[in-house]
Amino acid sequence: MGAKESLTITDNRTGKQYEIPIENGTIRTADLKKIKASPEDGGLVGYDPALTNTATCKSRITYIDGDAGILRYRGYPIEELAEKSTYLETAYLIVKGELPDGKHLKAWQNNIIAHTMVHENIKRFMDGFRYDAHPMGILVGTIGALSTFYTDAKDIFDLESRRLQTRRLIGKMPTIAAAAYRHSRGLPYVYPDNNLSYTGNFLSMLHKMTELVYKPDPVLERALDVLFILHADHEQNCSTNALRSVASSQVDPYSAVAAAVAALYGPLHGGANEAVIRMLMEIGSADRVPAYIDKFKKGEGRLMGFGHRVYKNYDPRAKIIKRVADEVFGVTGKNPLIDIALELERIALQDDYFVSRKLYPNVDFYSGIIYQAMGFPLTMFPVLFAIPRTAGWMAQWAELVRDSEQKITRPRQVYIGEQVRDYIPIEKRPEPDMREDSVSVEI
Ligand code: CMC
Repeated sequence: MGAKESLTITDNRTGKQYEIPIENGTIRTADLKKIKASPEDGGLVGYDPALTNTATCKSRITYIDGDAGILRYRGYPIEELAEKSTYLETAYLIVKGELPDGKHLKAWQNNIIAHTMVHENIKRFMDGFRYDAHPMGILVGTIGALSTFYTDAKDIFDLESRRLQTRRLIGKMPTIAAAAYRHSRGLPYVYPDNNLSYTGNFLSMLHKMTELVYKPDPVLERALDVLFILHADHEQNCSTNALRSVASSQVDPYSAVAAAVAALYGPLHGGANEAVIRMLMEIGSADRVPAYIDKFKKGEGRLMGFGHRVYKNYDPRAKIIKRVADEVFGVTGKNPLIDIALELERIALQDDYFVSRKLYPNVDFYSGIIYQAMGFPLTMFPVLFAIPRTAGWMAQWAELVRDSEQKITRPRQVYIGEQVRDYIPIEKRPEPDMREDSVSVEI
C-alpha cells in the first residue's frame, strides 16, 4: 500500500491533531483555518510575503524546473521551440494548448494580421504623451485605454469574445510599441505591412522611412523572433501574477494586461535588461569587473541579470540568447559590452558568493546586449519583453477565467498595528517622533 497522501499536524497550543490532505505535492492553506487555539480564534493563516512558496493556481501552460534549468511550453522544450518554431506558432501553442496544423496556423496568422491596425483615435491619444515619455509608460496607458475602445471585452465568459480580444492584443501590441518608439523620436507612426512576418512587420513599423516597402534583415528578423519565443510565457512571474490578480475581479483583459505591463516595467522584472546595460556601461571595461563583483557581494547594488526566484541553475533562455548574440553581431558588428558581460559571468560563476546562492545569468543578462546591437534605445528593452509576453498573459487570463476554483484574489494580512484607541483632539496630540526609524514616519 502506498504512503498516505496527507499531513498530520499537532497544534502544541491545544494538543489537538489535524489531518490535511496533500494533492499534487500541495496542501490547501485554507485547510489550516480549522486549526484554532480557541473557539474565538479565526484559525491558522499561512504567512508568505512575496508568495515564495504558495501556488495560486493550477496551470497547464508552462513548466519550469528551476533546479534543473528546464523550461517547457505545453510540454515542448524551449530549446526545440527556439530552434524550430516561430513566434506566432508558439503563441498559438501557448494560447490553444497544441501546435497547429498548416491550415490552422495560416488561419491564426491571418487572424492576428487582421488586428494589427489601431483606431486613429489611439494614435491621437498617444500623441498626448510628452516627447520624452518612457515607452513602457506609454504602453501601460495605451493598453489600458484600449478597454474604452472595445467594450465587448467585458464579456469575459464568452469564448468568441475571449478569442477576439486575444487576437486583438497580440496583433496590436507591436503596433502600439512601435508607435511609442516613433513618438519618442518625433517620427510619424508607420502603418502595419501585413505582407511581412510578425517581427518583420514590427521592424518595419520601427524603422521605415520614405521607402515604399521596408525589407527587414532576415537574420535580425529571425533573431527577434527567437527572442520573442523565449519571452512568450514564464508561468507565475510578477507580471502574470499581477494580471491574474487584477483579472480575478472580472475586469476586461485590456485593463488586466495594462496592470501586467506596469508590473513588467519594474527593474527587478522586465526592466532588468535595461538595468544590465546601464550596469555594463558603468563598469566600462572588463578589467574593472573584479572591483564591481566585490561591490555586489557587499550588497552595494546587485549584479543585474543574475539570480532568479525559480531558476537555481543557468536560465535555459540565457543559454539560447548567448548563441543568438553571435548571429546578430555577424550583421550589426560586435557590441563591446559583451566582453564585460562574459567576464562578469566568468568571474561570478567561480565566486563562492554567487555559487553558494545559486545565482546564474537569467534571460535579461544577454538580451539587452542584442537589443542594443540592433539599435534599440534602452527604454525600449522592457517593451520588447512585453510584446511577446502578451501571448502568455492571454493564455493565463483565459485559464483563470475558465477555472471554477478561482475567485477574486484577496490575500490575508497579519495585522501588527495599534489596537483600538481614543481619538485625541489636535491640540492635545504629542509632537510626532520624526526620526527615520520611528513608527510614526511611514512614508
Ligand atoms: N546580485 C547580488 N546578489 C544577489 C542577486 C544579484 N543579482 N540576486 C540575489 N542576490 C542575493 C541576495 O542578496 C540574497 O543574499 P542573502 O541571502 O545573503 O541575503 C540572496 O542572493 C537571495 O536573494 P533574494 O533577493 O532573496 O532572491 P529573490 O528570489 O527574492 O530575487 C531576483 C530574485 C531576480 C529579484 C534577484 O535575484 C535580483 O534582484 N536579480 C537582479 C535583477 C534581475 O536580474 N531581475 C530579472 C529577473 S529574470 C526576468 C524576469 O523574470 O523578469
